[in-house]
Amino acid sequence: MTCEYRCGNACGHPVPNTSDNPYLNDLIAKAVSRRSLLRAGVVASAVAGTAGALAVPAAAGPGWHDRHRTPRGLRFDVVPPNTDDQVTIPSEYRQQVVIRWGDPVLEGAPEFDPDAQTPEAQAGQFGYNCDYLALLDVPWEPRRRLLVANHEYTDEELMFVGYDGEAPTREQVEIAWAAHGMAVVALDEDRRSGDLTPVVGHRLNRRITMATEFEVTGPAAGSDLLKTTADPSGRSVLGTLNNCAGGTTPWGTVLSGEENFNQYFANAELIEDAGLRERLGRYGISGGATGRKWERFDERFDLAAEPNEANRFGWIVEVDPTDPEAKPRKRTALGRFKHEGAGPRLTRSGRVVVYMGDDERFDYFYKYVSKHEMRRGRSRWAKRHNDTLLDEGTLYVAKFTGDSPAEEIDGSGALPSDGAFDGAGEWIPLASGDESFVEGMSAEEVYVYTRAAADKVGATKLDRPEDVEPHPETGVVYIALTNNSQRGEDGKPGPDEVNPRTGNKHGQVVEVVEDRDDPTSLKFGWRLLLVCGDPEDPGTYFAGFPKDQVSPISCPDNVAFDPQGNLWISTDGNALGSHDGLFGVALEGEHRGQVKQFLTVPTGAETCGPIVEDRRVLVAVQHPGEVDGASAEEPASEWPDGPGSLPRPSVVNVTRKGFGRIGR
Ligand code: FEO
Ligand code: CA
Ligand code: CA
Repeated sequence: MTCEYRCGNACGHPVPNTSDNPYLNDLIAKAVSRRSLLRAGVVASAVAGTAGALAVPAAAGPGWHDRHRTPRGLRFDVVPPNTDDQVTIPSEYRQQVVIRWGDPVLEGAPEFDPDAQTPEAQAGQFGYNCDYLALLDVPWEPRRRLLVANHEYTDEELMFVGYDGEAPTREQVEIAWAAHGMAVVALDEDRRSGDLTPVVGHRLNRRITMATEFEVTGPAAGSDLLKTTADPSGRSVLGTLNNCAGGTTPWGTVLSGEENFNQYFANAELIEDAGLRERLGRYGISGGATGRKWERFDERFDLAAEPNEANRFGWIVEVDPTDPEAKPRKRTALGRFKHEGAGPRLTRSGRVVVYMGDDERFDYFYKYVSKHEMRRGRSRWAKRHNDTLLDEGTLYVAKFTGDSPAEEIDGSGALPSDGAFDGAGEWIPLASGDESFVEGMSAEEVYVYTRAAADKVGATKLDRPEDVEPHPETGVVYIALTNNSQRGEDGKPGPDEVNPRTGNKHGQVVEVVEDRDDPTSLKFGWRLLLVCGDPEDPGTYFAGFPKDQVSPISCPDNVAFDPQGNLWISTDGNALGSHDGLFGVALEGEHRGQVKQFLTVPTGAETCGPIVEDRRVLVAVQHPGEVDGASAEEPASEWPDGPGSLPRPSVVNVTRKGFGRIGR
């Protein structure tokens, strides 16, 4: 059940990337050349030029409960691994559920009543399975904050008592359409306690659902590949699907990644055009009925009837949360894949670079570089200009090269003799505007079938690139590679320096340093910060920090930074037996690599959307109770409402008692 609703059981299907583009070991084998040595030199200089962010850690630090030597922001009592059906936080902290699935957002929306739920009610309420969160200021309302949340997917068996997966009703399907999408909710902030309370009916409040009209923009807008019966223009799409992680732009909009959109489209096997079937297959769309059976209620989910409808999902969408009337955009210049999220960074001159992961086993890491520079301020003029930044630019995919001999990467996670999983990389351009850099593909084909384009240019197959975020001060880009149990299986790519373990159950975190600290650079250096798992497992690595002073961590998914510059990681799918959680990680100084667990989430839940401010930590508790065999009749979790209730995905606000500073 977990896999069916979450990602259309991606692990149970063949890996969609069957391309034979070289993977890292092939490249290393060819790398015994003067040129590669020179490239390694480039990496070393890039690393040295990054404010010591990648400095080799000093000798073992002091005990990990030492409140004086532990970096600011991370001075809290570690939460031990556990399987409690609650949110567990450090002593001295308090928690508050801010908003739950079904809580009213829009004026007139009813209170949640699972026995009387309707599509209309759901369309005015907080959606299901909150994932990415943004918490913005409302400049003209000082005590208000603006929460933006993704609602990634629905889990009908946990939402509806008596749900029959073989015969869903129209009403259940329409509730699910309204429970997908995004939410914008104004919050009242209590300056003494730190509590956040939704302001129901606030004029900025918004629900984006499958009925919301999106404008398709950028170089593939209007392409024949995007035209359908309902939209012969190829420029207007109803709804957004499987919005996973995201990012907040420097001009105040929110980006959101359409991830496992493949699971919503049926009957690909009935398409006559073999080339199109192959293209769909590269996105994991293989045919047959879908899990949710939406194709019975709206023909656009039936690819036999509307073969292009799936091409209209899998984009980065951009929403202006301060303008409830603004039509959200689907930005084709950023390519189409299973977008986890989008991490923007400005160059010194004000161009924007957006880093993005494609969350699938053996898929790729991308960046987009805008042609134009951002205009500052909130004027209409600036807004109109910044609305074009993600439409004109260049899309690149990453190729990683290791610097250690291939035979030293044995799949166990043991460090090579140079003491680091590290190396160099290059950004391979795919397309810019109407110009394609990929042989045999037009620019619009590159944007719509980006995975196929990246296959052709030899991008590096990674262990499921999830969230990607550039550090706000150092610019080092952090990539969560969550896991890949098929790494090294027969017929699959084996371990390489950036994916160093076979049967990788616990994932790793990569640091990428752009050459000359310039995010538009075509070369980068990289190294692994963490090779996750049980610290007692010799195949783990915590940047050299003593392993007896770190929390076990498995399946990193989302990454964020606190105001001190520490990294925070939330997990999904802990393969060590504990519930998922949120972890703070020191990046600099003698504690670099020390992982400290800050909270755990209830049974079956994933920790998402972490936001770490000076005085609060906000997390989305996604899919509580999502455990094989659980149902609305027999829930596996009773969080957050207690006995006799359905589990409800919710946003949780953690503050220090007295509203003190986090980790100080
Ligand atoms: Fe929706 Fe890749 O997590
Ligand atoms: Ca190395
Ligand atoms: Ca995720």
